[in-house]
Amino acid sequence: MDKKQFKPIAVELKKDKLYYWCQCGHSKNQPFCDGSHEAYFCEPMLVTVPETVTRKLCTCKQSGNKPYCDGTHRTL
Ligand code: FES
Repeated sequence: MDKKQFKPIAVELKKDKLYYWCQCGHSKNQPFCDGSHEAYFCEPMLVTVPETVTRKLCTCKQSGNKPYCDGTHRTL
């Protein structure tokens, strides 16, 4: 896998909206789920925020603070 794919993606998360963060890494719509997980025995993580905020969402799927980036991608 190309390391460029591991970079986090900054996304504006809207207050109280439900997001499905891809945990399997196979979605073509990173960082969000597109249903590709069904072949990998994985489920997306549901994410909501109490206030609208822009956050960097993990795409390497190795973060210790999922779904948010914690810099782990730089060590892969
Ligand atoms: S496509 Fe990855 S969790 Fe759904």
